[in-house]
Amino acid sequence: MPEKIIIDTDPGQDDAVAILLALASPGDIDVLGIVAVAGNVSLAQNAKNALKVVELSGRTDVPVYAGCARPLRRPLVTAEHVHGQTGLDGPDLPEPQKQLEEMHGVDFIVETVLREPAGTVTLCALGPLTNLAMALVKAPEIAGKIKQIVLMGGAYFEVGNITPAAEFNIYVDPEAADIVFSSGVPIVMMPLDVTHQMLSTHERIETFDGIGNKTGAAVAAMLGFSERFDLEKYNWKGAPLHDPCVTAYLIEPGIFEGRQCNVEIETSSELTRGMTVTDYWHVTDRPKNAFFVRSGDSDAFYALLTERLARLP
Ligand code: RIB
Ligand code: CA
Repeated sequence: MPEKIIIDTDPGQDDAVAILLALASPGDIDVLGIVAVAGNVSLAQNAKNALKVVELSGRTDVPVYAGCARPLRRPLVTAEHVHGQTGLDGPDLPEPQKQLEEMHGVDFIVETVLREPAGTVTLCALGPLTNLAMALVKAPEIAGKIKQIVLMGGAYFEVGNITPAAEFNIYVDPEAADIVFSSGVPIVMMPLDVTHQMLSTHERIETFDGIGNKTGAAVAAMLGFSERFDLEKYNWKGAPLHDPCVTAYLIEPGIFEGRQCNVEIETSSELTRGMTVTDYWHVTDRPKNAFFVRSGDSDAFYALLTERLARLP
């Protein structure tokens, strides 16, 4: 049976690849809906980008919703410096014909989890956790019904990417992350520790382009744009590809390795705001609330991506 999921996202080129991977894999993943959140760029732009990606995939059957326009307590921090002014710079994707759904994205999350049989819906979070936190605050009863939350966010051994201590998704809304990580919902966490092993080398980007379809060309253009900031910063053979680790995990969990740990979120200190304090060596008796993924097989990851993107138009 395919995994029933809701994707919460701030596309973002890497979000787009994660969404395309899910939409290309109906035998493994049943995407019930996509909810945009403010993050990489504004909510409105992220929502528009989500519509563009759905249309690129041909899966216009999948509904797209707009969620929250800013973090719970703090002003929004965006990342145009990485993703470009549109948040999806690189390919020239047409203006979307598909419209957003009327319902608020947080209400869609709540209503879907309450409607579906308990323990059958996975939430895949690719951006700041504002929508998930709001859903948990609005309807605390959903915590016992969500199967799991698989999220891209945080870092421990790899330290931060937006500050020395914090990864962007957690940094933008640390209060939301704290609500999610203390909710009791099973969490699988894809931190920078594993995403920094998934490098989009030029050979891998050329392989995407070589698929020969519209999707492969668009993905190559996306990554060819978003890589420049990270290549200059890290001077690696390729830029890390973050969000597709989430949807790849649902298809081939064996690509990844990790351990159950306690993860707490720093919300008080301005110096370390958004840090995911991970008890990796179990030196405390704090509850082991997250499966912390520390490593992965990058060849298997890119082989899966290439094979699945080839299934799209
Ligand atoms: O730190 C990486 C994360 O921040 C990714 O989800 C990327 O899309 C940005 O949102
Ligand atoms: Ca993202």
